[in-house]
Formats: sequence, C-alpha cells, structure tokens
Amino acid sequence: MAWACRGFFFALLPILFSRLPSEPPLDRGFVPWLGHAVEFGKDAASFLSKMKQKHGDIFTIQVAGKFITILLDPHSYDSVLWESSCQLDFSKYARLLMDRMFDVKLPDYDPNEEKVMLRSALQNKNLPSLTKAMFFNLQTLLLSDPSNLSRQWTDEGLFHLSYGMMLRAGYLTLYGNEEENYNDPSCQDKDRAHSAEVYSAFYKLDQLLMRAARSMLTAAEKKEAANLKGHLWKLLSVKRLNSKANKSLWLESYKQHLEELGVDEDMQPRAMLMQLWATQGNAGPAVFWLLLFLLKHPEAMAAVQGELEKVIRIRGQTMKQMQGISQEMLDSTPVFDSVLNETLRLTAAPFISREVLADMQLRLADGRKFSLRKEDRLCLFPYLSPQMDSEIYEEPEKFKYDRFLNADNTEKRDFYKGGERLKYYNMPWGAGINTCIGKFHAVNSIKQFVFILLTNFDLELKDPEARIPGFDKGRYGFGMLQPENDIMIQYKLKD
Ligand code: HEM
Repeated sequence: MAWACRGFFFALLPILFSRLPSEPPLDRGFVPWLGHAVEFGKDAASFLSKMKQKHGDIFTIQVAGKFITILLDPHSYDSVLWESSCQLDFSKYARLLMDRMFDVKLPDYDPNEEKVMLRSALQNKNLPSLTKAMFFNLQTLLLSDPSNLSRQWTDEGLFHLSYGMMLRAGYLTLYGNEEENYNDPSCQDKDRAHSAEVYSAFYKLDQLLMRAARSMLTAAEKKEAANLKGHLWKLLSVKRLNSKANKSLWLESYKQHLEELGVDEDMQPRAMLMQLWATQGNAGPAVFWLLLFLLKHPEAMAAVQGELEKVIRIRGQTMKQMQGISQEMLDSTPVFDSVLNETLRLTAAPFISREVLADMQLRLADGRKFSLRKEDRLCLFPYLSPQMDSEIYEEPEKFKYDRFLNADNTEKRDFYKGGERLKYYNMPWGAGINTCIGKFHAVNSIKQFVFILLTNFDLELKDPEARIPGFDKGRYGFGMLQPENDIMIQYKLKD
C-alpha cells in the first residue's frame, strides 16, 4: 500500500512542479517555496530585467509560494487592463496590502466602486477649489513662514524640502485647516505646526511600509510602526477631523462612504491614514526628482524659467501679486509638461497587479496565447517597458527635458515599438481602471509648488558635482521611487 502511495506521489510530481507548454516559461529559483522572493524584494527592476533577457516579455516566477506571471509587452497591456474582474481581480491583493500596511479591514470593500465615487471629488468642477486651497496652503508654508524669509542662504535636504512641503500642503488641502482664515497669521502658525507633526510621523512610517507590505518587519520595527500609526490615528481621529475648517469635498465624501459601509470610529482613522499615503506619498518624491534634474541640467532649468517668466509677463503680474494661479496659466507650460513627463518616466515604478480568479487564456498583441492558472498573480511592470525600454526611447536612462516635446511646442505622443505605434508609452499614473484619480490635482499641485519656489527663491546645489543618487530599491512596485540618500541644497528669498 505504502509503495502504491509513493508511486502515486512521484507520478504527480511533474504535474505539481512543472507547467504546460501553453503556459508562460516558469522560473522557480533554487530555494524551495521561497523561490525568487529575496532577489525580487531587494531589487525587482534588476531581477525582472534579468528574467526578461532569459525568458522574453512574458514569464512566471515563484515568490514566497506564489506564482507571479510578469507581462512586459506594452502592446499587450490592454488585454489585462480591460479584462473582466471575474477573471482578473484587482481588489483581493489591494485588501491584503491594506491590512498588512495599515491594519485596515473594510466590510464589503470594492476599490472600483470607491474610485468612481471619489474621482469626481478630485476632478472637473471640483478641481479649481482644490487648486486654490493648495495655493494658499503653499503660501502659508513657503512665503509666510518667518524662517523662510531670511535673505541668508538656508541649507536643507532637497528630498525633505520637497516631500515635506508637498505632503503638508497637500494634507491641509484635503483634510482641512485648523481655522478658517488662510491669511490670519495665528491660523497659519497652527497649520504649520500641525502639518509638521503629521509629516514627521508620516515620513518615519513611510520608511517602514514597503517591508510591512512584504511582511518583513523585525519585532522592533513592528513596534515602531505600531507607535507611529497610533500617533497618526490620533491626529486623524473622527473628532479631530470633524473640528477642521475648509475640509475638501473629497474628505466629506470619503467619510460619508466609510459611514455607509458601517465602519466604526476606531477603524475610520486607519482608513484616513491609508488615504493619506495613497494621496500624498507620490507628489513630494516626484517634485524632488524634477527639481534635482533641473538643478543638474542648466539648459532644462533655463528653458523652464524662460517659459515661466513669459507666462507671468503676458499676464502683467508678478507671482507675489497673485491670489492664485489660474488653470489657464497652469495649462500654458508645454516645456514644464515635458520635464514632468520625463521625470516621471524615469522615476515612477508602480506594479499593476491582478489575481487570476479562474483558469484562463491571455492573448498577446502578436497573436500568441498563454494559459494562466487560477490563484496565480499577473503583474505588469511599465517601468521596464515602456518607460526604460531602449527600443522605444533612445538612451532611456538619460534625462532629456524635451523628450515629450514636438518642434512646434506641442506634446509629443508618438512612440513606437516593433514598428507599431504605442498606446501606452509612459505609465506613471497607471492606466485603465488603474489610473490615478488624483492626477489632475497632482499635476496642478506640483506645478504650483515649483512655480512659487522658482519665482520667489534662489536655489542651488551645495555641491554642484553631487551625483544623482540611486533609488531605494525596495520601493519598486509601489509608485514613485525615493532616493537612497538626500542631496543638500541651499536656498534664499530672491532680492
Ligand atoms: C506624482 C504624483 C502621483 C502619481 C505618480 C500617482 C500615481 C498613482 C498610481 C500609479 C495609482 C495606482 C492606480 C491603481 O493601481 O489603481 C494611483 C492611485 C491613486 N492616486 Fe495617485 N499618484 C500621484 C498623486 C496623487 C495625488 C496628489 C492624489 C490625491 C489627491 C492621488 C490620489 C490617488 C488615489 C486616491 C488613488 C487610488 C488608491 C487606491 O488604489 O486606493 N494621487 N496613483
């Protein structure tokens, strides 16, 4: 009998551990069960680009017991992005991460439904009020803070300046001010102090979140994360948020949504912290890379400054006289738009992930068909292709400020791979149902910050020879990349 069982087990082995010819090539790695987990977590971009060289633009890897199929052909992305959620599900993995990173469990949570509901609060007719609030909050932080107004050079890390200012102003814009009057100095003082407290705890937590997502925190780190979250939950409590002035429609809508889902008062601040990360975790790092590229490429800085001066001069004002920056003005900067697209091409690296809910066939643009297995995960990584693909972009690792600019100053949108024009050639904002719902607010906020900074302050690298830092490689897959180390700059108010 025992022999018969063993025989049956060995007969099953090839079925359990190999894949069918119709499936993508499988690379299990050498470590049983763990597979490629260590390399994947350490530096997903280098690892996946090695796998691409070995297997081509579709393959399956084993990572901590899970089989993940990676698709790197941008011509075929539509077959994933628009597939029915009965086959390729987006919410299961999102729910897992919400719990691991933010201790959030929401009953009947449907991310698609939530996105549709919150999108309108961030776009179209609600965009101008957000843009205006962001302008006032940036002024509070940048131009009304006595510590910024000295004519002496101040030294600061560019990453901290960018992330801190963007997060604090973005937070005040969405979650509201301590008091109603933006121009009242005592109200501004309170907003500066409160937003600095939020940023300080958030920044420390942010440094632990990637490892929390991979369940890799040590006991001490878990304790530190728990303390930081506890502190932030207090700052974002129902009572505290209810007492705010100038709350955005986004906040009101999200709060109402949580109440309709029956989420209790203890869980609500956790969801609010998760949203703080989703809404504020990307724009600050994007500003850091953009300013650093400008500081390292004087021709790009001159082109942006020239465009900015022209836009302001045409309107016969100075930035200081303005009570806001109009949408029309924000939309009149093709050079800046190209700089932003190029920055994001080089530094935005989200995964687009789906759980395979039922055995299915994936048809690629070139006609090849692959079987996918139920319970595997399917993942697109647009950072490798299209964004860093040398077939699409010449010298893809280089910053070229006018890469997305035609000779007539219109936006360049025609990029090719394999002789075919690409629908998806740059995907920092995701695509399809995975498109960022805050994109327009994010672009307006980034422009306002950079415009206010460049028109009011002189800004220099402390060491003009400083090299552009490498990426914190553990962040691949989670949106905007952050630098391995900060870069020191000095700034002072213009004469
Ligand atoms: C440079 C800045 C930003 C970049 C590159 C960016 C990119 C992205 C990407 C790639 C996604 C994932 C889409 C998906 O997989 O479903 C996303 C989701 C989202 N973004 Fe942005 N984003 C930025 C700034 C913002 C801002 C300023 C806001 C806020 C108002 C915002 C709000 C959101 C929200 C609410 C989601 C949905 C999160 C979720 O899945 O629950 N984003 N963003």
